[in-house]
Amino acid sequence: MAKRKGIILAGGAGTRLYPLTLTISKQLLPVFDKPMVYYPLCTLMLAEITQILIITTKEDAPLFRRLLGNGEQWGMQLSYAVQRRPAGIAEALIIAEPFLDGAPSALILGDNIFYGDGIRELLVKTNQLSTGATVLAYWVKDPERYGVVQFDANGVPVRVVEKPKDFVSNWAITGLYFFDAQAVTLAKRISPSARGELEITAVNEQYLNRKMLNVVRLGRGYAWLDAGTHEALLASSQFVHAIESRQGLKIACPEEIAFRNGFIDRGQLLFLAKQFEKTDYGAYLVRQAESDMA
Ligand code: G1P
Repeated sequence: MAKRKGIILAGGAGTRLYPLTLTISKQLLPVFDKPMVYYPLCTLMLAEITQILIITTKEDAPLFRRLLGNGEQWGMQLSYAVQRRPAGIAEALIIAEPFLDGAPSALILGDNIFYGDGIRELLVKTNQLSTGATVLAYWVKDPERYGVVQFDANGVPVRVVEKPKDFVSNWAITGLYFFDAQAVTLAKRISPSARGELEITAVNEQYLNRKMLNVVRLGRGYAWLDAGTHEALLASSQFVHAIESRQGLKIACPEEIAFRNGFIDRGQLLFLAKQFEKTDYGAYLVRQAESDMA
């Protein structure tokens, strides 16, 4: 199997966060001590994915480039593409077609934050699956806001519905999708939904119909946050702050993950730390270079 490539979808107008997002992309806003896009980026890094395409609006692309560069500093390869208008998550697969070049993909939404013990192992394991699609499901109190999945009595997924008006289940499908190489073809087959978008749920439904949709349920020990509203954005910052200040360990620090994954060596980590010399972030990187806490 070709090596899986990552896609971060960081487009969209961010209208639910106006006026914060009138001049800047939602995914560049801070979640406590780092830009939001670091979180999905680090989720893909934890899965040991090194080639990633970042899809943004035309206006924001230069800012993402300035922030993340070509990824070389973290031993990765980052590239960029533009989504002209918010035409749906599934369109990301079509935009990414030349980048993917027949490889399987892991598509993550730029505002999704995953946290929990064992998440690295889960992501690495999922990355190794070669056929079909794997999605992660999470129990939420407001499933009508999401794509949801229904299971039969044996725990087999039987239905996926985007933003159900009538109750289907509490299991929301999170914004991280592992697809085999077929996904681009399947995405091209769907037509826009009532809200005018190419729905990722319609891609997942085609995998489900072929009995190729694998759903991994994230249990209660995980956090899945989306920073899509003012309250959710603040809650995400507070969550990250609570954990980081208690442990003195960072959530979603790309320099640290690059080091622990062996993408960069100790010398390169210390070099990166220099840029942040006067900050806690820099001191943290220096500490990581000396520490063996994995
Ligand atoms: C999108 C997807 C939905 C998924 C959610 C996860 O919703 O359409 O299936 O559950 O992301 O964040 P949207 O952000 O477009 O409302």
